[in-house]
Amino acid sequence: MDKPAYVHPTAVVDEGARLGDNTKVWHFCHVYPKAVIGCNTILGQNVMVANGVTIGDFCKIQNNVSLYEGVILEDYVFCGPSMVFTNVTTPRCLFPRNTTEDYRTTRVKRGASIGANATIVCGVTLHECAFVAAGAVVTKDVPPYAMVAGVPARIIGYMCERGERLSFDSRGVATTSYGQRYVKGTGDLVRKEEA
Ligand SMILES: CC(C)(COP(=O)(O)OP(=O)(O)OC[C@H]1O[C@@H](n2cnc3c(N)ncnc32)[C@H](O)[C@@H]1OP(=O)(O)O)[C@@H](O)C(=O)NCCC(=O)NCCS
Repeated sequence: MDKPAYVHPTAVVDEGARLGDNTKVWHFCHVYPKAVIGCNTILGQNVMVANGVTIGDFCKIQNNVSLYEGVILEDYVFCGPSMVFTNVTTPRCLFPRNTTEDYRTTRVKRGASIGANATIVCGVTLHECAFVAAGAVVTKDVPPYAMVAGVPARIIGYMCERGERLSFDSRGVATTSYGQRYVKGTGDLVRKEEA
């Protein structure tokens, strides 16, 4: 059954912020007035959601994550503890870049996961079910189902939507333990629909 969002008494949700049903906002969070958060999403302790940020349904944002203006999270996105989004490429104090026009968009598509302490440089897109390893610094778009690690982050493999590493045969086909097939073609990895 749908319940209105729960906001812990220590959290601040500014008037105007939109929170979907069943969403939980835990200790010491701050949600700005023009933030939009979907249903069934969890904000862990000390999460900040700035104006203009959109978060989809069923997302999990772990402790100590700040979502700055320009960040868009689609549904089922996982943000590991203390991971960092950026929104200005070349910040300077004396010549501040702090208007909406200065902020670059970072989009995290459905089902993507970001490991603990990773940094996402602004302007990139993490495509569907992309996986960012703990501590990685992502400087480029991450293709669907790709797993990236290191500084700067490089593709080290592929992962299915449920989190299994994929091994490809000579035809470029990977089959998961539950029978789902992923096919490497000339472009992005494609998940085949069940027959
Ligand atoms: C990337 C990850 C999924 C790999 O897990 P795995 O498939 O079990 O891989 P392995 O541990 O077998 O490591 C494979 C290789 O990648 C390297 N590696 C693993 N994690 C790495 C990371 N975060 N950064 C850089 N390299 C990494 C390993 O050293 C190993 O290298 P080698 O082949 O040269 O020895 C995992 O290490 C990770 O970072 N998970 C994120 C955890 C997280 O942040 N969770 C948040 C909620 S608690």
